[in-house]
Amino acid sequence: MSNDEKRLAGEAAIQYVEDGAIVGVGTGSTVAFFIDALAGIKDRIQGVVSSSEQSTAQLKKHGIPVFDLNASGPLTLYVDGADECDPHKRLIKGGGAALTREKIIAEAAQKFVCIIDSSKRVNLLGKFPLPIEVIPMARSLVGREIVKRGGNPVWRDGVVTDNGNWVIDVHGWQIADPVALEVELNQIPGIVTVGLFARRPADVVLIGDKLM
Ligand code: A5P
Repeated sequence: MSNDEKRLAGEAAIQYVEDGAIVGVGTGSTVAFFIDALAGIKDRIQGVVSSSEQSTAQLKKHGIPVFDLNASGPLTLYVDGADECDPHKRLIKGGGAALTREKIIAEAAQKFVCIIDSSKRVNLLGKFPLPIEVIPMARSLVGREIVKRGGNPVWRDGVVTDNGNWVIDVHGWQIADPVALEVELNQIPGIVTVGLFARRPADVVLIGDKLM
């Protein structure tokens, strides 16, 4: 893991920000560098839509206006980090438990720019345990469904998401077909969001300041 690469990626993503835009902003230590860089050009943008209370706090500290997604309309750009990224720009996200709002904003944006350091690059997704946000009463049910599919579900005990839900991390999956797995898991009642961003992968991936 390299903080230098994270900073370079956060700064390089600024080139995608258009004047007058409302920018979708993700969550995490790499995005924190993007937010700091965005503060330098805050007069050029209308503001942002934020994916977490954590990012919102940093954005507000910089005096960057934070809009509700329902009021902003479709977004041109979403910038966020990832926990893993495969050669097709499909991602595992949710290490910071912000996956649901992240996925909503990614879906609402025309272009998803993913900013990572080189440690996040993999050929096959799944070494990083796959985060799944669940409605609390469905935790055991979802856990059993995951075991049936060969995964080892571990409850992220003590973590409550910004939406009041819980997170299960699935160990032991080598995800050969991430789109199929995302679609299949989305059918299980009680799952709010699967941390696979495969149906809607990133459009651009920056590893440090280099395009993948
Ligand atoms: C937050 O829930 C995650 O999806 C983050 O995007 C991911 O964990 C990357 O975080 P870092 O930039 O801190 O590695």
